[in-house]
Amino acid sequence: MKDGTRAIHAGRRPHDFSGVVNPPVMHASTILFPTLEALRGSRRMRSGDGHTYGVHGTTTTFALEEAIRALEGGYRTRLQCSGLAACTLPLLAYLGAGDHLLMLDSVYGPVRAFCEGMLKRMGVETTYYDPLIGTGIAEMMRPNTKVVWVESPGSWTFEVQDIPAIAEVAHAHGATVVMDNTWASPLYFKPFEHGVDVSVQAVTKYIAGHSDLVMGSVSCTEEAYPAMQRAQQETGICPSPDDVFLAMRGIRTIHARLPRHWESGLKVAEWLMGRDEVAQVMHPALPHDRGHALWKRDFLGASSLFGFVLAPPMCNDAALSAMLDSMRLHGMGFSWGGFESLLIPVDPPSIRSATRWPRPDVAEGQVMRIHVGLEDVDDIIADLSDGFDRARATF
Ligand SMILES: Cc1ncc(COP(=O)(O)O)c(C=O)c1O
Repeated sequence: MKDGTRAIHAGRRPHDFSGVVNPPVMHASTILFPTLEALRGSRRMRSGDGHTYGVHGTTTTFALEEAIRALEGGYRTRLQCSGLAACTLPLLAYLGAGDHLLMLDSVYGPVRAFCEGMLKRMGVETTYYDPLIGTGIAEMMRPNTKVVWVESPGSWTFEVQDIPAIAEVAHAHGATVVMDNTWASPLYFKPFEHGVDVSVQAVTKYIAGHSDLVMGSVSCTEEAYPAMQRAQQETGICPSPDDVFLAMRGIRTIHARLPRHWESGLKVAEWLMGRDEVAQVMHPALPHDRGHALWKRDFLGASSLFGFVLAPPMCNDAALSAMLDSMRLHGMGFSWGGFESLLIPVDPPSIRSATRWPRPDVAEGQVMRIHVGLEDVDDIIADLSDGFDRARATF
């Protein structure tokens, strides 16, 4: 089966539910057992193994978990209440006092905050590494390194990582490789084919696709699953069934939406490259991009989140406000992956510590993060063009 077919059919069993196409939305805390024996049997069941209590999942959650697993791969997927919770759960599952974590320097900012806050309080030490390190990661491994975290491309600065090379080194040292795979979605990067043990999705983004819910998922190999499952049971993290229902609607069309995001994103990136107001575009699907060769080798497509650096005359608040405050289509907001376009300024140095920004191959200047939505791409470009004109009027 191809992904487009999996996205439509995985996790659905209409004939178990009178032929109804979508699985029922089960609102459950209490689940009743018909006999004392069944009640006692449920105490031996683990979270996700069947219907025991609302927190541990119902038909609704299991259906979306199966649909994500069918697309992303791995042995088992469990849903979390947000993308951030999906990031923190594996860190809680695989790390304990005295352990060491290797974290890429361009990790999604709130994960860094978790490492510097809760993980530090737990006695876990984090070292940040250059996302472009590749096999050089070997020099950073310590005997107590238990987790190597990857995210490709990295948040805000879009470095593509050599995941197979990093995974090979991590495995040789007995460490678990956890990946934030949200950028590519389960369609465009298959983490388990590249040595990843645990893959995180912020379902909030492209899977949900409609900017109307927050959710996360953790998928893992069979070996990695028991520790993750235990952490899930111990923390009690779970999503709401109504949100699962909405996310299920999202996943049924992800294969129809993502190619459009990819195509429009690339068109906008190419257009931006031709503008005087832009010093550099950071999009791995562009041939000049430093991550292009790895992207081409490992990815099956590109989503529509990328960065660009503004040229010097644009890098002040007057020009930025003139551009951003009056955009007709591009909203300013912290998420992405929905149907609508977004544009925000970001400040990479504020969330990195191991590597200098800008890197030697990147221009100096204000970095912008754009999410290209599903509007007509000509209208998206016209909105950006008008924004540049307003900014220019301030020079
Ligand atoms: C790369 C990445 N991972 C994880 C998350 C967290 O997702 P959520 O907003 O659902 O907590 C985000 C959110 O912006 C993200 O950009």
